[in-house]
Amino acid sequence: MSVNDSRAWWRDAAIYQVYVRSFADGTGDGVGDLAGIRANLAHLRELGVDAIWFNPWYPSPMADAGYDVSDFRDIDPAFGTLAEAEALIADAHALGLRVIIDVVPNHCSAAHPWFREALAAGPGSAARELFWFRPGRGRNGDEPPNNWRSIFGGPAWTRVEDGEWYLHLFAPEQPDLNWTNPKVREEFEDILRFWFNRGVDGVRIDSAGLVSKDPSLADFDPARPPVPHPFDDRDEVHEIYQGWRAVADGYPDPRVLIGEIWLPDVERFMLYLRADEMHTAFNFDFLGCAWDAGALVGVIDATLAAHAPVRAPATWVLSNHDVIRHVTRYGRADTTFTHQHRQHAAPSDRALGTRRARAAALLYLALPGSAYIYQGEELGLWEVEDIPENLLQDPIFRRTHGAERGRDGCRVPLPWSGSQPPFGFSPPGSRAPWLPQPARWRDFSVAAQCGDPASMLELYRAALRLRRTEPALGDGAMAWLPAPEGVLAFARAPGFACLANLCGRLPTDTAVWLRTA
Ligand code: GLC
Repeated sequence: MSVNDSRAWWRDAAIYQVYVRSFADGTGDGVGDLAGIRANLAHLRELGVDAIWFNPWYPSPMADAGYDVSDFRDIDPAFGTLAEAEALIADAHALGLRVIIDVVPNHCSAAHPWFREALAAGPGSAARELFWFRPGRGRNGDEPPNNWRSIFGGPAWTRVEDGEWYLHLFAPEQPDLNWTNPKVREEFEDILRFWFNRGVDGVRIDSAGLVSKDPSLADFDPARPPVPHPFDDRDEVHEIYQGWRAVADGYPDPRVLIGEIWLPDVERFMLYLRADEMHTAFNFDFLGCAWDAGALVGVIDATLAAHAPVRAPATWVLSNHDVIRHVTRYGRADTTFTHQHRQHAAPSDRALGTRRARAAALLYLALPGSAYIYQGEELGLWEVEDIPENLLQDPIFRRTHGAERGRDGCRVPLPWSGSQPPFGFSPPGSRAPWLPQPARWRDFSVAAQCGDPASMLELYRAALRLRRTEPALGDGAMAWLPAPEGVLAFARAPGFACLANLCGRLPTDTAVWLRTA
């Protein structure tokens, strides 16, 4: 496939998620960067993916690993330069790989010029109107304006020197933007154009459902939130993304909007995927589903049924930079995932988890729609659960006073080659990787798996190769085939079937692809 192909590539793309700080370090400071990515694009080409999604690469104080953006139109110096990003986009396109970047509309960094100006300008200023500043409650206003809690733990409000408080649904370093303000809308539409003009093919919209707030900022009981919710999935958000869609549609070739939307209600979820809004959104119900045939059939059917009326393609996701890696999840007694139930360090049988991850790979890559591959899943990497506490970086760890370990365990730098850390992640003689890699990753590096037909890497390569060449795979319909309990069997036309055995009888936790004609 060439990037000049005007077909709706996003309907069935295999999209590889590059977590920039952990993919490859070209400069030797122990942190992944654009030079490292450019040097290793061949890996992605050989893997057989169609597109790459980069986690935020903008200038940032890195209070939340780059999701605290201080300039949406540049590249963090730790990662490279804007010129390098442009060269990377061109390199990727030359290899037939589309480029998706992360756009973070809910908040910016406290170091963003807008927030600095708001602090300097003081209460009542126009600059403060771009955020949610309010006086406090109680005597002397020393209590937060309402009872909202930060998603990362602690109150969702921080007080500034002049006594006002500002809202942050995430870390205090991530002040929420006020999307009722037209200036915020104009700014983000302009940011989209900035990157689309540089050849970016799509954006992943971070925390997309959270951007609109109930302007009354009233207290609520989190156990029984009112409808509409004060800050999640409010009706006003749709108009914002319709505006973004108009920007995307202003380009002759497709520019794609992909939503990060965590919503249990499928009908509400689908509203984001109407024809004039986003193109696709991550399927977190599938990600969180138990490794159980009945449960998976339920999620797959519900997904396809919900997507059909809006004609959006389904997406299939097993892991990302926010969740426990699925090799570890699938090796546990309880294989479900929710953010509230991360089950840190619950015993996990890695051999079982790996076998299931192999079966899951064949299962999810055969389903209709597009699929996401989180870097390292093609190597069968597991969650690193024993990172020493003094090295943990995720603000969740700090903000929950250690009650939650956070997400560092799925963000450990990739092993590329060699027998000891940094396993080719950095050039020889570099600083140690920003998070320590397990010694056992020696056997899981790209070089160690390359050419080994029994490896996870070769399984992904073979499956992705077939996904590209088999007309039955990708977008389209599927039909369940009769199968014994615990077995998933479905057909894709023309002439293709996927069988996955999840039950207790041998050979368990395996899957195969068959040509049926
Ligand atoms: C999204 C990102 C996550 C980030 C949060 C705040 O959920 O995936 O990594 O911490 O938004 O931006």
